[in-house]
Amino acid sequence: MKRARRVLLPLTTLGAGVLPACAGRPVVTAPPAPAERAAAAGPADVTRADDRATRLTDSLLALMTLDEKLGQLRQAPAEWNQTGPGAPAGGDQLVREGKIGSFLSFWGAAATRRMQRIAVEESRLGIPLLFAQDVIHGWRTVFPVPLAEASSFDPDAVERASRIAAVEATAYGIHWTFAPMVDIARDPRWGRVVEGAGEDPYLGSAIAAARVRGFQGDDLAAPNTMLATAKHFAAYGAAEGGRDYNTAEVSERTLLEVYLPPFEAAVRAGAGSVMSSFNDIGGTPAHGSSWLLGDVLRGRWRFEGLVVSDWAGVEEMMAHGIAATRAEAGRRALEAGVDVEMASTIYGTDLPGLVRSGRLPERVVDESVRRVLRAKHALGLFDDPYRYSDTTRERQVTLSAEHRAAARELAGNSVVLLRNEGGTLPLRAGFGTIAVIGPLADDARSALGSWAGAGREEDAVTVLAGLRRAAGPGTRVTHARGAPVDTADASGIRRALRLARAADAVVLVLGERENMSAEAHSRASLELPGSQLALAQAVIRGTHRATPRKPIVVVLMNGRPLATPWLADSAPALVESWFLGVEHGNALADVLFGRRNPSGRLPVSVPRATGQVPIYYNHKNTGRPPTAENMYTSKYIDVPWTPLYPFGYGLSYTRFRYGAPSVSAARLPATDSVVVSAEVTNAGDRAGDEVVQLYLRDDAASVARPVRELRGFRRLSLLPGETRRVSFTLRPEDLALYDLTLRRVVEPGSFTAWVGPSSADGGEVRFEVTGDTLVLAPPPPRFR
Ligand code: NOJ
Repeated sequence: MKRARRVLLPLTTLGAGVLPACAGRPVVTAPPAPAERAAAAGPADVTRADDRATRLTDSLLALMTLDEKLGQLRQAPAEWNQTGPGAPAGGDQLVREGKIGSFLSFWGAAATRRMQRIAVEESRLGIPLLFAQDVIHGWRTVFPVPLAEASSFDPDAVERASRIAAVEATAYGIHWTFAPMVDIARDPRWGRVVEGAGEDPYLGSAIAAARVRGFQGDDLAAPNTMLATAKHFAAYGAAEGGRDYNTAEVSERTLLEVYLPPFEAAVRAGAGSVMSSFNDIGGTPAHGSSWLLGDVLRGRWRFEGLVVSDWAGVEEMMAHGIAATRAEAGRRALEAGVDVEMASTIYGTDLPGLVRSGRLPERVVDESVRRVLRAKHALGLFDDPYRYSDTTRERQVTLSAEHRAAARELAGNSVVLLRNEGGTLPLRAGFGTIAVIGPLADDARSALGSWAGAGREEDAVTVLAGLRRAAGPGTRVTHARGAPVDTADASGIRRALRLARAADAVVLVLGERENMSAEAHSRASLELPGSQLALAQAVIRGTHRATPRKPIVVVLMNGRPLATPWLADSAPALVESWFLGVEHGNALADVLFGRRNPSGRLPVSVPRATGQVPIYYNHKNTGRPPTAENMYTSKYIDVPWTPLYPFGYGLSYTRFRYGAPSVSAARLPATDSVVVSAEVTNAGDRAGDEVVQLYLRDDAASVARPVRELRGFRRLSLLPGETRRVSFTLRPEDLALYDLTLRRVVEPGSFTAWVGPSSADGGEVRFEVTGDTLVLAPPPPRFR
């Protein structure tokens, strides 16, 4: 990528250490050093760029007043007016005074350019602003919600989706996204399950790293890459009772094994920032946790990027009850390692007094300011502060045909076929009439999903529109809402049944609106809301009995797994589509009409009843694992202990047959890797993709281990009759556990591996680790 011309800022030569400490803007007094010229001319050399960043930040810090320093740490939210986001009241003046370092939700090439000009040309030091935004699953080209994208089990495709999101969003002046959300969610009552990759740390880590790579690309300074943020650090998804913002009651072991790995993966992939989470763990809110932000993040993982608070998370430490005053909340957050304060304004107003009175060392402030300036440098803003705000690019890239095509493909691969009795699907072409029934069938807003960026309803293809287009002119498509999503009104059911009876095929579209999951939208019940179950029962019973061969397909749209045992038993075909973004209807029609063979797999366990949660496949065995024969085992008396659909599950229009797995060595020392492989055959008559999954169990260890853990997966395209051998290499790290002292170790003993199509299936093979315990890492600093 060609580097942008160096323009404007005298700060580009700061490396020469030549800024006069005079009032007013810095002045260049010497030509750039050779190293800087080289860095500006060619692709960035990391070391040189680092040197330059250090010289630049040091020189600037030497010039900054305390107020200007704290200004860099303030992130102000934009205010919305009729034409879009704008500066908050007095924002221009605050920028001129150097009292804002970044904006949140302020975007648009023209608007950001104008505000950037004020920062660069009218503030004393001309430090460019950062524009941050939640770019979560696409920008104007809205991709499937993250939970759906994870269903593709295709990190490469997810990386491409994040890349496209960055290409579009950066043209609107956005430098920094608050994504990926990498919180593990084991309780789908928690509304934010929709924003993450589901329940599994292994899949979650792969997707987290893919998203970081997609957003940040190879060169953060390129005008179409943006800073990624791994959030919410940490254990936000462990909210008690699934109630958003609630306390996370987790052990240190569970933190290390379940909640932290995706963050570590994001950091290893180079994430430039991390956001702390609203919850407390063991009495310490994450915003004030020196263990999380200091010992783990910056210490153990050597993270050097930016930590941003969540919205008013600094101020909320008072509500948590660990700070009596704003100043105390600010001091705790900054000392713990929160560099940038989002939305609340404690740093700028309450910390100066603490610094001046000596209660907060100024070097703590300086450290955070350095990180902000380094991020601005890494994004290339000191070379060209306007490189991201580009009205021409904004027009060219927005919702391009290429972007829509990528969205349609990923959306299609995210659809999970849950049930297909008697080959109900795919639908044949040439029906006289198809009845499309249900409250979500024509809901464009829900198709877009919960963090739809700059997405617009008019861009979104609803299920109804997609099926109309796909069915073609010879087929009449009728539609009735039938029942509301959220009230008990059953008055529309009769008309819906009439349409269903009169049609040759029926597609029922049921679930949740997009605003029934996501932030602050937890639900106590996972059952189908409103009178939708009554609608489904009326239509399926009333149609199926009379005309059993008439295809009836239930399509679910929802941001969380729903407990729908009746549908799982009675719907001839059941399809989980989540919210698939702008191409929802087209992608779904591709699957229903068989133009795409479904290949999505569940990234979460689907419960039978709300009371089963938390329910997840990688649970401990307990001393009394459930059996049908023995009453006194770990189960319920009213529902089975198993999920309705297990993690990793999903059907295809073809059949895959697995051969017995084998291992490269039946016995191996802990230092060695072992290869587990199995043959997979497409035994049906259609080409299809299978997601081959490898699970592992340490059979007897020093601590109780999960019954199975995902340790590998591969998406495989097979033609009818084709057989391929799939091999997974298990390295020592894949066999490791945290022992009693929380060392990372591989212990000798027997392991079982499964290769199969879901967490509840697959052929097994055993191998034995021999010799001594291998220590891979010492324990982390003690939780405090
Ligand atoms: C609060 C949410 O928790 C976080 O995920 C988001 O990035 C910020 N608001 C900013 O919108």
